[in-house]
Amino acid sequence: MLGAIRARPNFVKPVLVRLYHKPARNTEFKKLTASDIDFFKRVLPAETILATPAVGGTSDPVELEGFNADWLNKYRGDSQLVLRPKTTTEVSQILKYCNEQKIAVVPQGGNTGLVGGSVPVHDEVVLSLRNMNKVRGFDDISGIVTCDAGCVLEELDNYVADKGYTMPLDLGAKGSCQIGGNVATNAGGIRFLRYGTLHGSVLGLEVVLPDGTVLDNLNTLRKDNTGYDLKQLFIGSEGSLGVITGVSITTPQRPSAVNVAVLGVPSYKAVQDAFRLARRRCGEVLSAFEFWDSSCMGAVLHHQQLKSPLSAEFPFYVLVETSGSNKDHDDEKLGALLEELMENGTVEDGALAQDEQQIRRMWMMREGIPESLGKTGATYKYDISIPIPVLYDIVGDIANKLETASLFKSAGASDPVKIVCGYGHIGDGNLHLNVVADKFQDRVTEVFEPYVYEWVSSHRGSISAEHGVGLMKRDYLGYSKPKEMIDYMRRIKSMFDPNGILNPYKVL
Ligand code: FAD
Ligand code: MLT
Ligand code: ZN
Repeated sequence: MLGAIRARPNFVKPVLVRLYHKPARNTEFKKLTASDIDFFKRVLPAETILATPAVGGTSDPVELEGFNADWLNKYRGDSQLVLRPKTTTEVSQILKYCNEQKIAVVPQGGNTGLVGGSVPVHDEVVLSLRNMNKVRGFDDISGIVTCDAGCVLEELDNYVADKGYTMPLDLGAKGSCQIGGNVATNAGGIRFLRYGTLHGSVLGLEVVLPDGTVLDNLNTLRKDNTGYDLKQLFIGSEGSLGVITGVSITTPQRPSAVNVAVLGVPSYKAVQDAFRLARRRCGEVLSAFEFWDSSCMGAVLHHQQLKSPLSAEFPFYVLVETSGSNKDHDDEKLGALLEELMENGTVEDGALAQDEQQIRRMWMMREGIPESLGKTGATYKYDISIPIPVLYDIVGDIANKLETASLFKSAGASDPVKIVCGYGHIGDGNLHLNVVADKFQDRVTEVFEPYVYEWVSSHRGSISAEHGVGLMKRDYLGYSKPKEMIDYMRRIKSMFDPNGILNPYKVL
């Protein structure tokens, strides 16, 4: 239904003064040799291996570029070997060998992650799941789909749509991200408000551990209380504990009636009032409640060639969606909500989509924001959750700090910051604070790191609501988790991956 971001956008390529803090290469990891490549050639079909001459292969290094650079063009590794297995057995053989030889590996799905977790830091082998993309089965009574981890989210959604179901998660990167990557990051997205977390909808996982052991927990049971629920550990583990090769997930009935409206709102307080009323009036059919500010709107209208459906510009915009099975009932509820919001002045203007195309355009206004900001310049992204009333304060705060440091809105050629903006899943208490500059550079980063994390911590919030930790936030985990918990995380990591070969330098 929604517009999909299929590939990396055509960025204004940021000039990088200093990329980010790159941890030193762990010298205990083996450097690849021709004999390693010979082993992989024995266990994998030739067409699934990309190896450069630096490690005894023949692939042009350009072919590995897309595996070494992340979606933001911020994080960049130097892998000389990409393996794209087709079966779980092949994944197992690869990991077993890498573990024995102490060769570091980074699992990669659609490479749409935003925290530098999906690309190598140094010369890790990239284990791409893209060739594992088959649906393994579908239960038409329960709506449970079982599939390979490399299935692209949008393709899975199309598959279950034909049978009257919908995937319980949706995000702007749906055209590229894979279900295995979604599970590995515990992705949130725009249906979270309605269907909740993947910890609830994922019913089973098949995972290959670093020593090659296959944990087959790919069941399709809604209820199963036989001991510890190990699969939960892998949901959100960001490729640091095992490689997810199979997923079974419950899919809800596809709603037959969908309504979308975009509203112009005068203040952040009014955004909250609108959300409170939307929950009260449309509770059981409310399926999304997203917001963004005027700076985001400026970028998205410009870069997506969209026209605002509203009569004027507003400080904030809200997208409200209802999904249900009875159109008249939903129309009536949403209509009454919009009328009440307009009458009491919470909302100053609103437009209700009249057809599928208008629904798509309205969603593009929200989902096109990350891509539009990326086209504007180097984008610093913070993904935080704290109680809704104070959530947006950080945007003004950061803008003021940048102004004080003469890095924003000050005249002169050295002014690098173009946009400070906020958008996100307000219904989930999740804000995306974004700062867009001409280039990534330390003096800008220093204004908000660790300030943003300290600020979030002082509100007992999360420094990563949905994007994960990756490389970007691994040194800041302590702002959201106490030391004792981090110690236990380390123990779990070393139990599953004693040699630390899986996605090293990330998360912890
Ligand atoms: P990748 O980026 O390839 O990998 C992400 C992490 O998972 C890495 O650490 C990687 O090592 C690991 N991994 C990947 N596959 C596997 C596997 N099979 N087994 C083990 N580990 C694996 N995120 C949200 O939560 N909500 C959003 O609304 C949202 N919107 C986005 C919109 C855009 C335009 C973009 C570019 C990104 C968005 N994201 C969002 C972030 C990203 O899309 C999600 O994190 C997504 O789940 C990543 O999936 P992927 O297949 O691209 O994984
Ligand atoms: C979104 O909600 O659009 C995504 O999480 C991506 C982003 O934060 O830019
Ligand atoms: Zn998001």
